[in-house]
Amino acid sequence: MLLQWFVICLLAMPVLTGTGRSCPIECTCNLDEQNRRQVLCTKGGLSAVPVSQIDSDVRVIIIKGPGNNISIGELFQKLSLLEVLRITDSQVPSLGNKRFWGLTKLRTLDLSKNNITNVYKNNFQGQANLRELDLSKNKILNISSTTFDQLVDLRRLSLSDNSILELVPRTFFLLNKLEYLDLSGNPLQDLPPDVFHDVQELRIFKCRNCQLKKINPQLYNILPNLNELDLGRNEFKFLDKDEFRDVKRLTKVWLDGNQLSVVVDELFRNQKSLQHLDLSYNRLAKVPNDSFQYLSNLTFLDLSYNKLVRLEPQSVRQLSNLLTLNISGNVQMNLHDMRETFEVIPQLTHLSVADMGVLPMGLLVPFKQLRYLNISGNHLDNMSLQVIDPCRELEFLDISRNQLYGINEDTVGRIQRIRNVRLDNNPLICDECHMGKLINVVQHLQWKWETYPICFLPKPLRGSEITDLDVSKLHDCLDYITDEEQNAASTSHNFLERGGLNTLAILGGIILVLIVVIILVMAVCFSKRRARYYTREDRLNGGESGKCIEKNPDSSNGNGNAANGGSPPEHAITPTTPTNEINFKFPIDDRVCTIDDLVLPPAPPPPAKEPPSQLPPPPPPATTTNILNNFSYSSCAGNNTATAMAAVAAAATVIPPGAPSAATSAATPMPPARNKLPSEAIVVVLPPPQVHYQTEHQQQQPQQLQLTTIEPLISVN
Ligand SMILES: *[C@@H]1O[C@H](CO)[C@@H](O)[C@H](O)[C@H]1NC(C)=O
Ligand SMILES: *[C@@H]1O[C@H](CO)[C@@H](O)[C@H](O)[C@H]1NC(C)=O
Ligand SMILES: *[C@@H]1O[C@H](CO)[C@@H](O)[C@H](O)[C@H]1NC(C)=O
Ligand SMILES: *[C@@H]1O[C@H](CO)[C@@H](O)[C@H](O)[C@H]1NC(C)=O
Ligand SMILES: *[C@@H]1O[C@H](CO)[C@@H](O)[C@H](O)[C@H]1NC(C)=O
Repeated sequence: MLLQWFVICLLAMPVLTGTGRSCPIECTCNLDEQNRRQVLCTKGGLSAVPVSQIDSDVRVIIIKGPGNNISIGELFQKLSLLEVLRITDSQVPSLGNKRFWGLTKLRTLDLSKNNITNVYKNNFQGQANLRELDLSKNKILNISSTTFDQLVDLRRLSLSDNSILELVPRTFFLLNKLEYLDLSGNPLQDLPPDVFHDVQELRIFKCRNCQLKKINPQLYNILPNLNELDLGRNEFKFLDKDEFRDVKRLTKVWLDGNQLSVVVDELFRNQKSLQHLDLSYNRLAKVPNDSFQYLSNLTFLDLSYNKLVRLEPQSVRQLSNLLTLNISGNVQMNLHDMRETFEVIPQLTHLSVADMGVLPMGLLVPFKQLRYLNISGNHLDNMSLQVIDPCRELEFLDISRNQLYGINEDTVGRIQRIRNVRLDNNPLICDECHMGKLINVVQHLQWKWETYPICFLPKPLRGSEITDLDVSKLHDCLDYITDEEQNAASTSHNFLERGGLNTLAILGGIILVLIVVIILVMAVCFSKRRARYYTREDRLNGGESGKCIEKNPDSSNGNGNAANGGSPPEHAITPTTPTNEINFKFPIDDRVCTIDDLVLPPAPPPPAKEPPSQLPPPPPPATTTNILNNFSYSSCAGNNTATAMAAVAAAATVIPPGAPSAATSAATPMPPARNKLPSEAIVVVLPPPQVHYQTEHQQQQPQQLQLTTIEPLISVN
């Protein structure tokens, strides 16, 4: 009897305590931040929406997987007050006929991350008030005409990350209030302008990763109100001067991850309101002086991971409102020239110069207001960290992925005022003399860093955060470190990260490919080199094309010692040679450099270069040994290993294609520096030469000569 009562009470409880409300057992029911009744089902394992158990005055339903396998069977009709319906990550296969009929208050319908393959016109019947529809991350293959024509009030539509191959005419019929359209991640290849006639109010348009090669200019003509345009990760090779002529209200443009090799002059001449411009991960070799001339409202400029050799002061002079500049990863850039450029934009607050190689002292002197600085991946040591001294206002500093074995007192002084410092992926030796000072300071800071440095050595402490260490228990000074550990330390900052093994495997692959490329390239190189000695036009070609990039080793004297750290385990590059290294290194004994990064001391200059006169160059007797000797002390061949030597010798003569287009370079006169002697170094630019590269005049070479020069090199390998 008692038990029966107990059971009845238990059953009645929810009803009594919940003041007559019901809530599906798998879900929680509460009020959202706008005070609307909401049902949240996030535990997973659902196979249907528990409509019958949901109170009819609920306004928000959120159902999330994983582990759901929902088919939308029941009608939602009784939930006539529903405003937001999100069923995501739930394997929903299709939408069904008029399933949302009667939901006249529905504003937001989010069905992203499901398994929907088709959407039909009748799916959305009765949804004249819907504002936002999210169908991203499904498996939609095509969308037929007029599918959305019921959604006459729709403002935001996302179809990103589906498999839509084509936009048929009138896809967006009657969506004339649409402001936001995201088509990213669909293999569209083309955007027929006609389709966009129905959505002329569009403000934000995204089509990242759509395999686009070109945009029909008419499209822009149809969408004059565009504010934000995201065309990143497509396949644009060239943008015409008039590309953006008709979109005068752009504030943000993403063109990252394309294949642009130049920003043509005046491309943005009508974008006076542009604030954010992302051109990272392209192939820009130069930024002409007038490219950004009109962008006086620009605050954010990302030029990272291109092939820039320099950035003229002239090209950024007009950017008087620029606050953020990113030039990371332009490994061929001569940072000694950058000081001058930086001086015209001293107002910067955010700067990224990561993955660039050694930073010259004084580089950052112009930036008194810098708050954010990213100089990771630059082979920095305690000594070269002096570069940050002029920046007194720093709040964030990223010096991860460098070669800091320890942090000395000076450096601790430098960084202890900064709110947040990233030091991960440095081969830190956690003993008293390397890290004691920093550990002490960091453990007593009044604020918290987002991440804390992690020890690499000694082995028992590897992986520990320095905040967890007890300073009194540290070793005094770990003087003796085995060779193996030294090698490990020198590479550690790249491989400490998770997935390091994969990185190694990929690097191995790259090296293999490079060696093959080097061998293939040699024939072309040497014929090219020979041609230089014999023909004048050829020399001019080389100079004009900008493909052989010159560096003046003298200019590196100022900071040559920077590579020479204050830390004991010392195997940085010898400071006597100019260095411009890649970000990763190989164990010391078989260090090989990619061609991309070789910096070579002067080749014996063809005498023709010496006087600027027009005398025809006499052919010098350049032999293979001659070349090898001259290049053996280059930075990358530091160990004189056979492979490196061969690479250097081969690279020395490569003038590869793929650098700036012929059209732009033809207009550029030969840089005056070329006539300056004595010294020049050559940076060789990938990708490897192609067959068309051999021009007729090179064929004049006696075949035999080429053979004799190539032979010894191959045997070296
Ligand atoms: C998702 O849809 C595809 C194609 O219709 C189907 O083969 C697959 O089984 C579906 N996956 C699930 C988990 O329902
Ligand atoms: C530049 O930015 C300012 C402030 O954001 C704005 O008032 C001004 O209208 C912008 N200029 C143009 C041409 O858009
Ligand atoms: C670009 O401007 C620099 C001065 O900053 C000047 O030396 C150079 O000749 C200019 N280049 C062109 C192509 O006008
Ligand atoms: C470049 O730096 C800026 C500012 O630090 C950052 O927002 C942006 O994401 C960086 N770009 C890339 C490609 O990392
Ligand atoms: C600094 O730059 C590197 C290289 O571009 C990047 O990977 C890293 O995320 C940046 N740091 C921060 C804090 O954004």
